[in-house]
Parts: sequence; structure tokens; C-alpha cells
Amino acid sequence: MKIEKGIILAGGTGSRLYPLTIASNKQLLPIYDKPAIYYPLTTLMLAGIRDILIISTPKDIAAIQSLFGDGTTFGIKFSYKIQVEPRGLPEAFILGEEFIEQKPVAMILGDNFFHGHGLPSIVSEASSHLNGAHIFVYPVEDPSRYGIVSFDKKQKVLSLEEKPSKPQSNYAITGLYYFNGHVSEYAKQLKPSPRGETEITDLIRYYLDQGTLNVSVLGRGYVWFDVGTSKSLLDASNYVEVIQSRQGTVIASPEEVAWRMGFIEKKAFQSHVYALPNSQYKQYLSRIEPL
Ligand code: DAU
Repeated sequence: MKIEKGIILAGGTGSRLYPLTIASNKQLLPIYDKPAIYYPLTTLMLAGIRDILIISTPKDIAAIQSLFGDGTTFGIKFSYKIQVEPRGLPEAFILGEEFIEQKPVAMILGDNFFHGHGLPSIVSEASSHLNGAHIFVYPVEDPSRYGIVSFDKKQKVLSLEEKPSKPQSNYAITGLYYFNGHVSEYAKQLKPSPRGETEITDLIRYYLDQGTLNVSVLGRGYVWFDVGTSKSLLDASNYVEVIQSRQGTVIASPEEVAWRMGFIEKKAFQSHVYALPNSQYKQYLSRIEPL
């Protein structure tokens, strides 16, 4: 059974991006020509997920709600929930317990950006074969900034650590996670780490200990950014600009993905595009045809 529910965690303080984040939520800042949250949203949509809970801060939830509404335009259903304080990524599964209904669920961090040929099949394939938990890992230059996993040749996980000072590998755990219906129950059992938050790596460890953790390695043909700093925001923007202007495509348009995935009919897509303000985005959507 494929995962049908997804959470976008889009809160946090965005402190590393200060002063950009005084008045604006990190996930509403631009990655080149669209809000950062469009990128993780379309990743979930490409995995076939249409029932999505967005969690953000008391200050920012209204702005995100005004961006997306109820989701009808994209043929999906959005719900919204407030996280009062950033108490850790696993809190999403406690706040989202009613939404999850003990069913399998995906979570993506609102500041994560994935791109690469074949990504839609990797994310939807893993969703169809979920056992306990599934994570996506990516080699990075600076492993001590991330959750890190080490594994053997058969991709059996040997260790999991959050921001280790002496990393066992350079494989970062990206901010896309799939969990089975027990996730809220496990999240409630977690204790805060020394930095005062519950840690996603501790939650993943429950599944590792049960032998139900699976891993997909995203190799050299993919890019993954978390846009937590102004440099990574610029790097991601430059990447999008280069690909889009070279190919004449648009990365991470929810309208396009909704139409290509069959979430909306061609007529609904066309009338939505017709109503958009005059912009390059509208011009692009007006000329695309099914692949
Ligand atoms: O991006 C991948 C990394 O994300 C993983 O490798 C790490 O294992 C994981 O802990 C996380 O590390 P970060 O240091 O990047 O987490 P950060 O605190 O920046 O939060 C990630 C996003 O989640 C960010 O957009 C803010 C949001 N957030 C965070 C917390 C702790 C919330 O909405 N609520 C929270 O309570």
C-alpha cells in the first residue's frame, strides 16, 4: 500500500538566516523564482501524496495558509496545525496524531530541496514498499552539520548519530522520512537531547532496533539542499536558475505536477493558469504539454 498522507514541517526560528527571517518565515523565502516550500511540496506530490498537513509557527501559519488555501487548485487536501515552539522534528508526529490516524506517513522538512532524474520513481517506489521506516541519504562534504548514518555494503544501517563531532561516514540523513502507523506512539516516548529538542535520529533508531529501517542512497546524479543559511539559499537559487534557463522548464511548479500526476483535469489546470497574473510562470504553464 502506498503512503497517502504527508506532513510538511515548516516552522522553526530561521535564526541562521537572520535578519531575513525577522518578518518572513524561512520556507516562504525565495529559491530563485518561487517560495522555498514549493520544492518539498512537489516532492511529496511526486510520491503520489495528496493529503498534506502543514505545521508552522503561530506567527507564520496564516501566511502559509494564504499561499495554499485548501489545496483544491492542486487537487490535494491541505490541513494546518500550529507548533507553539520548535521542540524538535518528532513533535510533528504528536501534533499530527489525529491527522495520521495510525496510517503510514511521509514527512518532509519545509527547507529541503531535492532534484534529479528518476527522483519521482525513487520516492514513490519506497512508499510502495514501506516496512517500518525509510530514509533517504546523501553524501555531504560537512557531515557534522547533519544526522549521519553509516551502513555496510548491503545498505544495512550500522549507526545513527545527530550532528556528530566525529562522523562515522559522510552520508547525511535528508529531511524526507517515511514511517509506519506507529510513529506517533514512538515520538511520544522520546526525551529531549542535551540541546533541548527531541531528535529525529532517536525516532529513526526505534526502527533500526526493530530491524525495519530501510535506506535509499541518493547518488551523484541528484542534488539535495537544506536552505538553512543564506549561502545555501543562494546556491539552490543559482541551481534552479541554471537548469530552468538552459532547459526552458520550471522546477517544482505544483500546478504542473498536479496536472502531470493526474490530480487535476486538463480543463481545471487551464482555467487556473488563465487566471494567473501575467508573469513568466504563467507563460511557462500556458505552453506546456503532457510529456
Ligand atoms: O535537513 C536535514 C537535517 O535536518 C537532518 O540531517 C538532521 O538529522 C535533522 O535533525 C535536521 O537538522 P537541522 O539542524 O537542519 O534541523 P533544523 O533545526 O534546522 O530544522 C529543520 C527544519 O524543520 C527547519 O525548516 C525548521 C523546522 N523545524 C525544526 C524544529 C526543530 C520545525 O518546524 N520545528 C521544530 O521543532
